[in-house]
This record gives sequence, C-alpha cells and structure tokens, in this order.
Amino acid sequence: MPTIPYLRLGVNIDHVATIRNARGGVHPDPVRAAMLAVAAGADGITAHLREDRRHIRDEDIVRLKAEISKPLNFEMAATDDMIAIAVRTRPHAACLVPERRAERTTEGGLDVAGQKAQIDAATAALKAAGIRVSLFIAADPRQIEAAKAVGAPVIEIHTGAWCEALAHDRAAAAREWTRIVEGARLAKRLGLEVHAGHGLDFASAETIAALPEIVELNIGHFLIGEAVYVGLEAAIGTMRAAMDRGRTGAAAR
Ligand code: PXP
Repeated sequence: MPTIPYLRLGVNIDHVATIRNARGGVHPDPVRAAMLAVAAGADGITAHLREDRRHIRDEDIVRLKAEISKPLNFEMAATDDMIAIAVRTRPHAACLVPERRAERTTEGGLDVAGQKAQIDAATAALKAAGIRVSLFIAADPRQIEAAKAVGAPVIEIHTGAWCEALAHDRAAAAREWTRIVEGARLAKRLGLEVHAGHGLDFASAETIAALPEIVELNIGHFLIGEAVYVGLEAAIGTMRAAMDRGRTGAAAR
C-alpha cells in the first residue's frame, strides 16, 4: 500500500482581526488566537496582510513571527511594498495572492501566466531571502505550468469555486473536483509541492484530504466562524479529525 504524506493544517487567523477591527481596539487578538490554534494542533499559521489592511495589520505580522512556535505563512500581493515587508519579517513561507481584479484569472487565482515577469521577479526576491514561495492559483494547467516556469516550489490550489459549487450545483462541483484532482497530479508530476485552500469546511476538507498529492490545507473563515459556537480549540480538533478521516480512507483504498 503506498504511504500518503501527512496533511498539514494551516490555520488562517485573519478574521479574528476582522472582529477586532470592527471596534478598532485590541480585542480579540489574532496572535492569541494563533497561539491557541497551535496548542489545538495547527501545523502552521496563515495571515494575509492586505494592501488596504482591512484585517491583519503590520504589527500583527511582526508579533506572529516573533511569538508563534510554528511556521508562519504570509499571504501577500506581489508588490514591492509587500516584498519589502516579507524580506524584513522573514516568514517561513509567502503565498502570493491576487488582490485586484486585474491580477486574477477567470477562476479567481493569481494570473501567473499573464503576469510572468512580475511574479518571476517577486518569486526570485522572496527566494533570495530564504522564504519558501507558494502561488495561489486555479487548478488550471496553464497556470500550473507558469508557476513551475517562474521557479515557485509550491502552489496552493484555489478551492473556492469547488466549495461554492458544492452548496448549490452538483454538476459544477463535479467539474471543479475533476480539475482539482487533475491539477494536483500535474503539479506533483512537475515537482511542485501542492497545497489547497479557500472556502473549505469540515466536509470539503475531509474530501480533499483524500488527494495524496496535497500536503497542506489552509483554512480560515469557516474555522473562525465555527469557533463562535464551539471555541477555536474544538473547531480545530474537529477539522483535524475530518482531515485524518479523509486521509486514512484514501490510504485504505
Ligand atoms: N489560502 C489562501 C491563499 C487565501 O487567500 C485564503 C483566504 O485568505 C485562504 C487560504 C483561506 O480561505 P478561507 O478563509 O475561506 O478558509
């Protein structure tokens, strides 16, 4: 039976900051949430410093890097400002994401194929600072090949369209799922490390955990929302169990 690699869970704490910023104060603190997430079994913490600073702030990134014991995955736009912050902060990983409509593919991921020179330069600058670069892209062969061409070691497959379709359009969900499966296989064949995220909940995380090519899921909004009902620790524990069930089921097949 083939061995399937461990599936890491990156917990995205952006929306703890969204709640904090609703009142403009210091509570709830996303760094405290990150520490609780680590204690509850998160393998890493993900935070997106948006250009408009709508949730995470610059000082959150500095504190996250200094205070959490697990790898920090810094989601960022491929701009000079963000690259300078990443190079100064030295997170374990940086995931380049689109922030403006013009930077996106029709599927919502980063348009690497259409912005090769810019993504190539950003990737090179981050790699030179010892940061592991990941590109957040749709499971589109053209984008996957472009990610390989610019020298990124990792891609994160955008699961948003699949997750949305699961709620109301079974045929579209099946089509999206096929693209994800085939995209993950192509990326692995090209030697890329494959992550996935956006819109995942317990059920979709369990399903996608069965894909052996995928070694990390980054999950935020659903977990923070669920924490309102059961607490962050319990939400992460249930997510971890769902991922393990999906992974173990795949290993047994
Ligand atoms: N991965 C990336 C690259 C993202 O931009 C986001 C959203 O910030 C996520 C994962 C997490 O998505 P969600 O909050 O829907 O779980």
